[in-house]
Amino acid sequence: MHITVCLTDLKPDAWVLGLQQEFPDAEISVWQPGTPPADHAVVWAPPQQMLDEQSGLRGLFNIGAGVDALLKLKMPPHTRIVRVEDAGMAVQMAEYVCHALIRHFREFDAYEVDARQGRWGYRAPRLRSQFSVGIMGLGVLGERVARAVAQFDFPVNGWSRSPKDIAGIRSFAGHENLDPFLAASRVLVCLLPVTPDTRGILRRETLTKLNGGAPGGYVINVARGAHLVEADLIPLLDAGQLDGATLDVFETEPLPPDHPFWRHPKITVTPHASARTLREESIAQIVSKIRSVEGGAGFDGMAGAVDIERGY
Ligand code: NAP
Ligand code: GLV
Repeated sequence: MHITVCLTDLKPDAWVLGLQQEFPDAEISVWQPGTPPADHAVVWAPPQQMLDEQSGLRGLFNIGAGVDALLKLKMPPHTRIVRVEDAGMAVQMAEYVCHALIRHFREFDAYEVDARQGRWGYRAPRLRSQFSVGIMGLGVLGERVARAVAQFDFPVNGWSRSPKDIAGIRSFAGHENLDPFLAASRVLVCLLPVTPDTRGILRRETLTKLNGGAPGGYVINVARGAHLVEADLIPLLDAGQLDGATLDVFETEPLPPDHPFWRHPKITVTPHASARTLREESIAQIVSKIRSVEGGAGFDGMAGAVDIERGY
């Protein structure tokens, strides 16, 4: 068996070593133009040239949860895409979203300003019941986040393609239920995959429906920059319609130094760091899937197998 590793902008050595330890008899290569045909590839944002040259790949194992970069490419006809599912990302995402939510709800930024100025001043407690949290995408990450947020007794809504039955989470499903979901939610968390249906879903028209159309909405985008129409956000913040935004992902990454999001007082920026791929956990998951394919199980029904038609 030959597994080739192609990780754009990431160092491959530790991945190669980890795979070699698990498959001592296999050839594990770092892909470069002209690499002989491999059976499987472990990838992050590979170039089209790699797929063109490796047209006999059976499995393309993506080391991240989102496969949008892969689905932009022309795939060899018989190659199946498998993404990493959770592998330590869900707990990170839950931490990140709870942190952003609680920091906003409890006004910790304002306390920090007070503390810097030596000011001892209480703020009136805010009503949790008035900070309903709406999670777009109730998949592997969204469900974990929804459960974590619900533990703090916030009302939680979730929006997905198919209806869900998760204790303590109000499920809204399908495009026809997007408006009621937005109206019932004050803090909006995006954990959708980017597909033709979800690109640009965070835009003026949808964001003004938050919180029943009243001011006070808050946006947390931890999915992809392409979900947000960036030009719509600052006018809504400046007009007071939205109270703030925490953004981890951007249309252009790294976020350009002169981008207005860096300096806007109501926007918190992090560098696509909400849920990092953890190498050991991810290698373990990929290895177990390659073993199962090599054992004859095939890809149908495999956790993380991507449905190209669906787009995630
Ligand atoms: P997932 O398990 O595939 O879940 C996707 C969820 O989105 C599902 O609940 C799905 O509904 C829902 N969905 C898809 N299309 C929809 C539509 N048109 N309308 C309503 N709901 C729709 O994905 P995941 O593992 O949770 O990851 C989600 C995304 O997070 C990834 O695609 C990636 O872009 C992003 N991510 C970001 C970071 C970061 O560091 N910022 C890290 C990891 C992942 P159904 O359940 O009905 O199918
Ligand atoms: C990171 O953004 C991922 O998709 O895993």
